[in-house]
Amino acid sequence: MTPQQETVLSGIRSTGSLHLGNYFGALRNFVRLQETHHCYYFIADYHSLTTHPAPEDLHNNVRRIIAEYIASGIDPEKCTLYVQSDVPEICELYLLLCMIAYTGELERTTTFKDKIRKQPGNINAGLLTYPVLMASDILIHRARWVPVGKDQEQHLELARVFARRFNNTYNCEVFPEPEAFNFGANLVKVPGLDGTGKMGKSEGNGVYLTDTPEIIRKKVMKAVTDAGPTEPNQEPPEPVKNLFTIMDLVSQPQTVAYFREQYASCSIRYGDMKKQLAGDVMNYLTPIREKFNQIVNDKAYLGKVAAEGREKARASAAKTMTEVRKAIGINRL
Ligand code: TRP
Repeated sequence: MTPQQETVLSGIRSTGSLHLGNYFGALRNFVRLQETHHCYYFIADYHSLTTHPAPEDLHNNVRRIIAEYIASGIDPEKCTLYVQSDVPEICELYLLLCMIAYTGELERTTTFKDKIRKQPGNINAGLLTYPVLMASDILIHRARWVPVGKDQEQHLELARVFARRFNNTYNCEVFPEPEAFNFGANLVKVPGLDGTGKMGKSEGNGVYLTDTPEIIRKKVMKAVTDAGPTEPNQEPPEPVKNLFTIMDLVSQPQTVAYFREQYASCSIRYGDMKKQLAGDVMNYLTPIREKFNQIVNDKAYLGKVAAEGREKARASAAKTMTEVRKAIGINRL
């Protein structure tokens, strides 16, 4: 198979806005993949219902995220970009996969056990079957490659288990086994601005793709550093290393080299470095923010993109469901 025929699929939950970590960790690679593969990207709005968002928030989030995807370079002409809840076939497959998913294996999922600890007041069945819905997302298009982060690997393993079990149970070969798409050297972990750990939605340590220059400046200028190097060529502490990591992503190589040299020779002024970094982050994000602002309230355009995505996604999903039903013995009268 040529890469064009190999199906890639990934989804993003519709909670909150996207930040630089999402961009360099995932989105930028999604954009590259649409040139070489047959790609499906979707907004996982059903998955976000486990926490019961207000209807208005849910709707606005879906709209914002679609606009952010497009502003970041996802091209609805080159891939299939859609909203999960627009494709009812996913729900049908979910129901059928629930029949072969064992409660024991779902209860043992790390993410489920985490939820039991974190939100003991709301352990709904949707949380337990989260991996079944995710497997349905993937298997509905018989995707081979799923670009996801480490935290989703166990879910992907379950998708493989369900694919295999379905094929065995019904003595068919409807589903290929999906694998994590490995970006190799292109997989970057973007650190937060608070000194430790990675940039995250819930950590409050990130720069959002749609932050204004003013906000970017404030966030970067407040980033954690230290008292400065005391000896030549010493290893920078984590917070400073993190700033260099972000600089590597958004600044010119000679700019990064200049500040590394300043650090090595103990003459660095963090204020200057941050000013430079803030400017380079702004430059990097300005076209994305402008494109976002241009389309986010354009209901006609976003509606058209979603409708076209829905059409393409449903056509592919319907084909899979015909085979699934046939394998199970549904619709034979
Ligand atoms: N569970 C994923 C996350 O939390 C989102 C997701 C839902 C997904 N369905 C998917 C990712 C299918 C890849 C493929 O980020």
